Formats: sequence, C-alpha cells, structure tokens
Amino acid sequence: MKGLILAGGTATRLFPLTIVTNKHLLPIYDRPMIYYPIATLAGMGIREVMVIVGGKSVGDVVQLLADGEHFGLNLTYRYQHGAMGIAHAVGLARDFVGDDSFCCVLGDNVLLGPSMADMAREFEEGPYGAGTLLYEVSDPERFGVAEFDADGNVVAFEEKPAKPKSNLIPIGVYFLRPDAFDVVNTLVPSGRGELEITDLLNHYLPGNLYAPKFEGLWTDAGTVTSLIRAAELAEQESRSGRLLAPPLRPTS
Ligand code: DAU
Repeated sequence: MKGLILAGGTATRLFPLTIVTNKHLLPIYDRPMIYYPIATLAGMGIREVMVIVGGKSVGDVVQLLADGEHFGLNLTYRYQHGAMGIAHAVGLARDFVGDDSFCCVLGDNVLLGPSMADMAREFEEGPYGAGTLLYEVSDPERFGVAEFDADGNVVAFEEKPAKPKSNLIPIGVYFLRPDAFDVVNTLVPSGRGELEITDLLNHYLPGNLYAPKFEGLWTDAGTVTSLIRAAELAEQESRSGRLLAPPLRPTS
C-alpha cells in the first residue's frame, strides 16, 4: 500500500498564523504538524509516500521533510495549484499510485494511539471499494457527517451540514484503490468551489465502504481551538510515554 499526505490548501481559518507560512509547519507540542500524518502512515508500515504541497512556504515543507529517510520513508512531492478540494488533491496522485491501493491522510489530522496497520491490512485484503475511519465529536457541523440506516450501517456522508444527522464524522484518513481516480473525474465542485472527499466516499455507499471507528485520540488542527487541543492531546500522550520522540533532520 502507498501513502498520500495532503499539505496544500490556504488555511484561512488560521490567519494571521498562516499568512506567510504553511499551516503544516506550525508547531503542535514538540514537532511540526505534518509529522503527525507522517507517523500515521509510517505506523501502518507504508514506505512510499507522496506529499501534495500547495499554498505558502512549499520550499520549507520540502526542506523539512527532505527525502523522508529520517522517517524511514521514501517521499516524493506534487504541487497543487490553488485549493480546489481534497478530492482534487487526491486526483493528482494518479501516476504515483499506479495499480496499488493507497491511504490518504490529511496534513492537519492528528491521530494518537494504536497503530492502524491492522486496519490498513483489513481494507487492502477486504472486498471494500474505499474506506475511512469514524470518530465521535461534539461539533459535527464542522466536518463531514455520517448518516446511518436502522441497522447502524453508514448510508451517506454530508459535508458540513447545518443539521448533522449524527455525531460521527469521517476523519481525514481515506483508504482508496486506483478506481478512485475515475470517480474523482466525475465529481463537480461543491458550493464552496471544491471537489469534496465526502462526494468521493459517497460513491461507495451504501454497502461498499470500510468504516470502522477509530479507537485512539483524534483531532484536526485547522482552527485555533483545535490547534490548541491537538497540542494538549500530544502533551498528554507524551507524558504517558506513548508519543515517540520526533526524528531530527539528517545532518548530511
Ligand atoms: O478533518 C476531517 C475533515 O476534513 C472531514 O471530516 C471532512 O469531510 C473533510 O472535508 C475535511 O474538512 P476540512 O474543511 O477541515 O478540510 P480542510 O479544507 O481544512 O483541508 C484539510 C487538509 O487537506 C488540510 O490540511 C489541507 C489539505 N488540502 C485541502 C484542500 C481544500 C489540500 O491539500 N488541498 C486542498 O485543496
């Protein structure tokens, strides 16, 4: 399985913190934000990773991550013009992914807790067309939101609904196969002018989506409040000895 990290976008919700720098370089506790999705993919045993870059300070992102060797990864990069949506950014990875299945993690998603190697394997070996992880939040209207049938199966996702149909959201971890690129080509921009990841996931609903609950700690870090929350969670994990020390850049 290959990996994809999305580190484009404009991050206007964090202005003025992100007027001159890339959101994914901001500190969360003792490391830059993008180290967290890197650790998420590395923890799944994934080695070949593409980082989609865009917005401000793209050179700094590349300088920080370099070839990925200090994370045990082999990193490549692709540039996204503008912030045309998460599904659009996924579409840029077509040549990199080839015939493999892949896991896409949003660059501002912080997952703390057990490795997800089992989940990655379950998706890859299973019959599902796509997958994501569900998490319960108190403010679902900020995210994609899951709708369930009477048997508890996900039937659809709605992006940032005014009246959420549940408290369970698809977090920014997406398991996909190469056919996702054909689906991306059929998507049309939403009201906010983006190709939405929830529209891509809805293509596999009902019935063809792997959607277990994530049992660790999760937050995004795209707003000031969630950025602080992310740092608090990371510090908590560090105090319990569960957060590995961040790798340092190679000196050579
Ligand atoms: O965090 C989980 C949520 O992430 C999901 O529940 C939503 O369904 C999903 O749409 C997304 O919502 P956000 O509105 O929080 O996404 P945001 O625009 O903040 O982008 C998330 C990451 O994706 C961010 O780190 C930058 C990257 N990105 C985003 C866009 C729009 C790109 O690389 N390119 C883009 O064009």
